[in-house]
Amino acid sequence: MHNISQDETPFLTALENYMNENISPFDVPGHHMGNVPNKLKDLIGELVFKADVNAPRGLDNLNHPTSVIKEAEMLLAQAYQAKDAFFLVNGTTAGIQAMLMTVCKAKDKIILPRNCHKSAINALILSGAIPIFISPTYDYDLEIANEPTIDSYIKAMDENKDAKAIFVINPTYFGACLDLKTLTEEAHKRKMLVLVDEAHGSHFAFNANGPSSAILCGADATSCSLHKTLGSLTQSSVLLINSNNISRYDIMKTLNILNTTSPSNLLIASLDAARHYIVKYGQNKLNEMINLANYAREEINKIPGFKAVGKDYFIKNGAYNYDETKLVIALDDINLTGFMLYNLLKDKYHIQMELAEQYVILGIIALGSKKEHIDNLIKALQEISKEYYKSDIKYPKYRFNIEYPKQVVRPRSAYHAPLLKVKLEDAIGKISKEAIMVYPPGIPLIIPGEVFSKELIEHIKYYLSTSATILSDYDDGYVAVIDENKWSKYEKYREVLEND
Ligand SMILES: Cc1ncc(COP(=O)(O)O)c(C=O)c1O
Repeated sequence: MHNISQDETPFLTALENYMNENISPFDVPGHHMGNVPNKLKDLIGELVFKADVNAPRGLDNLNHPTSVIKEAEMLLAQAYQAKDAFFLVNGTTAGIQAMLMTVCKAKDKIILPRNCHKSAINALILSGAIPIFISPTYDYDLEIANEPTIDSYIKAMDENKDAKAIFVINPTYFGACLDLKTLTEEAHKRKMLVLVDEAHGSHFAFNANGPSSAILCGADATSCSLHKTLGSLTQSSVLLINSNNISRYDIMKTLNILNTTSPSNLLIASLDAARHYIVKYGQNKLNEMINLANYAREEINKIPGFKAVGKDYFIKNGAYNYDETKLVIALDDINLTGFMLYNLLKDKYHIQMELAEQYVILGIIALGSKKEHIDNLIKALQEISKEYYKSDIKYPKYRFNIEYPKQVVRPRSAYHAPLLKVKLEDAIGKISKEAIMVYPPGIPLIIPGEVFSKELIEHIKYYLSTSATILSDYDDGYVAVIDENKWSKYEKYREVLEND
């Protein structure tokens, strides 16, 4: 392998060369570089198909990289100051699953915040690990969950000295960060690995003025969705390793379980291009993004009915640091819920926000953000304010469900236990076999192995009454619980359930 510089794009260049080689393809994909009459091709152009090649000779193999993918991965690792990088074509979802499956065997303990993304919950099913959940802190005004405190991590580590690792989100969907460097030191003192979900923090490594990246904080592994903030194509992410305790061999073995054998070279090329761009223009681009977000906050705060909260707000509420590229807009005396506003912005103004909660909507300011789009949002909110602002509005005090459900069974055990389908109302006291969540953000209200409570059922019913998208196994009013009569292990748990 020759010495390569960050100015190069080894994979992208090899792809370009391949496309110009006048190939006669006899391999898959069968559209053979776009040689099919196809409506998608008419819509988006032949070049996308021409670049959609498998090309085992010349374009390397994601599952056993030895040439141009390996070089591109090395450049990306170098850009993030990590020891190793693995390109992912199934998002940070695959990165989180690979980290957990590599580090935890069945019945190993891992400490996680309960407001983690569904990919971490599914990783618990895949790995068979025992989760030790800690509670996030709550913002009762915005009705959102932030990071857990460092103290709650330390307490969980001290009570579970045999835990293999801790899992940390850097940042939360809304941009809150904890003191990851201190937490990492505390975990390492206790011989625990630090695994990070950095789906929303790919840009941290390139911004000296914001929260630190997981790698710079000393974490052992992190997964970043470059597609979320750094301009690569949807699904393209990276898993970074910076640890003497996680081997490349073990990660590769796990990724070979999770990865498709036909990864999209468009996604891989987009990672190579995104890394090249951000290394070259990083700090300037990040400054531009933050300036745009600050401009948006300033203007939105002049509009009656909306409050764009930023760094000061989150720090006051306990965050250690804040990602200023997140545009969190709280509703303030406006006769709409966040869900209604989210829909109105899209349907009437063609503005697509990232997500809504009851009293808040979230926008992502990223590499592709334009001032023109922010001005469109400001104009739309001004118009909406004229129609819906009411200074004397009384918001119904929505019951924010503080208590997460009680966990009695390991997620993998519950997942494999016999199924009983019951009406949501009849699930009180039963152990869930499924995860139910609002999407986005995809943070489950209940996960396999947790018990349905009356409050939780009301909470789910509330979300069902809104226009939010609810992900669950069924959409007919039924839920999946463990069939106690058919489950041989039930006796073991009866006491815990009945004493509750
Ligand atoms: C906090 C968090 N973690 C992980 C993921 C999964 O990332 P990806 O969509 O890249 O698979 C998401 C996706 O929204 C997320 O919000």
